[in-house]
Amino acid sequence: MTIIAQISDLHVQVSGKLVYGVVDTTPLVAEAIAHLSRLKQQPDIVIASGDLVQDGTIAEYELLKTMLAPLQCPVYLMPGNHDHRNHLKQVFASHTYLAKEKSHLSYTVEGYPIQMLMLDSIIPGKGSGCVDPERLTWLEQQLLAAPATPTLIFMHHPPFATGIPWMDRKRCQGHGALANLISQHPQVKRISCGHLHRTIYCPWAGTIASSQPSLVHQSGLDFTPDAPSQFVMEPPAYQLHVWTHENLVSHTLYVGQFDGPYRFSDGKKMMTAAL
Ligand SMILES: [Fe+2]
Ligand SMILES: [Fe+2]
Repeated sequence: MTIIAQISDLHVQVSGKLVYGVVDTTPLVAEAIAHLSRLKQQPDIVIASGDLVQDGTIAEYELLKTMLAPLQCPVYLMPGNHDHRNHLKQVFASHTYLAKEKSHLSYTVEGYPIQMLMLDSIIPGKGSGCVDPERLTWLEQQLLAAPATPTLIFMHHPPFATGIPWMDRKRCQGHGALANLISQHPQVKRISCGHLHRTIYCPWAGTIASSQPSLVHQSGLDFTPDAPSQFVMEPPAYQLHVWTHENLVSHTLYVGQFDGPYRFSDGKKMMTAAL
């Protein structure tokens, strides 16, 4: 069994500044990292799927580095639209997978029973994302090289439509060509994305596509056509993707202090500390 923790959309900002004038992300991220560190069974790997920081500054990445330090397992980072590729690489210079000489920061994580492909979907300076021909070619090369290896693709911008108009107006460009490629590679078990700040699943291109909750704030659920983009302070959460050698199963964990656990057999509270 391989356990992959995915944390997303941390939006770390230097101390004292509030994201959008409302959210103090530093304590929220710290609480989530502490929650993850307390898990009885630690993940084999942690993936952070973009919007690691709010403004892409060196100071923010330095703070992020300090905040991630308690994690004992390998941590892999990918950029989101709030990130700055060069500043990320500069501060995380020891993360040599980021140093590859190409125009995007896509890379492969090997050494696990399930292969992980990190597909950089950002357009520098823009909120929207894309999978352009260069990145599509890179992805195709990885998929052709390991046709029998179960594969999990991570990207920041989801390629699927959510049914929420204000989200779908910024749908990842190049999604049609990406769907065509993915549909030819049945080894792809999931495309797991960030950016939407909500837990969403749908069948897509012959596999399952999903988006992650955020560690700091969630997107407001409003299906009306003229609704503006919006966020709500629903509970922060992250996911554990468990590769069972048969299937990829994903579990959502909410960050916070919750009562329990209680035994079903006699209703007694268990001694195990609740997360
Ligand atoms: Fe985000
Ligand atoms: Fe984003």
